[in-house]
Amino acid sequence: MPNPRKVCIIGAGSVGSTFAYTLMQSGLAREIVLIDLDADRAQGEAMDLNHGLFFAPPVTIRAGDYDEVADAALIVITAGAKQKPGESRLDLVQRNVAICKHIMGEITSRTSDAIVIMVTNPVDVLTYVAQEISGWPHGRILGSGTVLDSARFRYLLSDHCKVDPRNVHAYIIGEHGDSEVGVWSMTHIAGVPMDSYCTQICQQTCGDEHRAHILETVRDSAYHVIESKGGTYYGVSMALERIAGAVLRDENSILTVSLRADGHYGLSDVCLSLPAIVNRTGVERVIDTPLAHHEHEALHHSATVLKDTIAQITL
Ligand SMILES: NC(=O)c1ccc[n+]([C@@H]2O[C@H](COP(=O)([O-])OP(=O)(O)OC[C@H]3O[C@@H](n4cnc5c(N)ncnc54)[C@H](O)[C@@H]3O)[C@@H](O)[C@H]2O)c1
Repeated sequence: MPNPRKVCIIGAGSVGSTFAYTLMQSGLAREIVLIDLDADRAQGEAMDLNHGLFFAPPVTIRAGDYDEVADAALIVITAGAKQKPGESRLDLVQRNVAICKHIMGEITSRTSDAIVIMVTNPVDVLTYVAQEISGWPHGRILGSGTVLDSARFRYLLSDHCKVDPRNVHAYIIGEHGDSEVGVWSMTHIAGVPMDSYCTQICQQTCGDEHRAHILETVRDSAYHVIESKGGTYYGVSMALERIAGAVLRDENSILTVSLRADGHYGLSDVCLSLPAIVNRTGVERVIDTPLAHHEHEALHHSATVLKDTIAQITL
């Protein structure tokens, strides 16, 4: 039986260690284990985090090896190469597929009970690879997907309308990457559809051009952050804490995680982000609801981009 509050983080680089820091402060986990090819790095990060324990809810944090995953409830994979400036997420694919195969081999030889969250990019392709290698039910291996992109979208809309981002409901679906799709038809603020909100309440210009600019900004956010400081890690860590909370607290939260489409939205045999109920079983159910025609087309295009990449990799 897994320890319901034990989380193993594989990859103690910028994303893995920042997530450990976020998780430590959340009180969600009782045990956090950092596993990295660079054992010294994992050790150093664990020590640094331990020095803050006096200020945090009770939790133990240590560096460890793969035997630690045997009783983990949640395994979060952030290990791998990261995007270089100007490099697309899909360019990373073959390098990270090899790392993913190795890590999934280590995990599946020790447990079949955990929920796995893939974070390493290209996250949709690696979620698919991890599912294929494990043979586990697909819902138990999910990707962080567009949870972060949806948060960026909500932030930009909240800034546009001058409201709290928590009152904005908006989703980015499809690939976590260049072909991602902003779903205006599902966007609302406090239950008021976006169109009505902009014309009647905030009285901001929100024409097609403006909308396209917002989505472009969401899509290119990671590129801009990487150009400026070499990597993104704060936003994604908070998105991971949200997903981890949905799993560990059995929340039934609706999140746009990367999952295996199985007829949903007319798609199959691909992993990409769709709104889904996430709880202690992983992905419980996809929210499959009609989209505007152009959104449906864009989602299918995104799936094609991902399928083309999957077809090119050697499993
Ligand atoms: N999905 C998202 O929303 C999102 C957001 C940001 C970053 N990322 C991705 O997360 C990944 C990590 O980014 P980062 O900034 O932390 O990179 P990083 O280079 O800082 O850290 C990567 C870590 O992985 C370790 N590693 C490499 N191969 C390993 C292996 N076989 N086993 C164990 N550990 C191994 C390295 O030693 C390093 O510590 C990248 O692929 C990046 O693109 C995803």
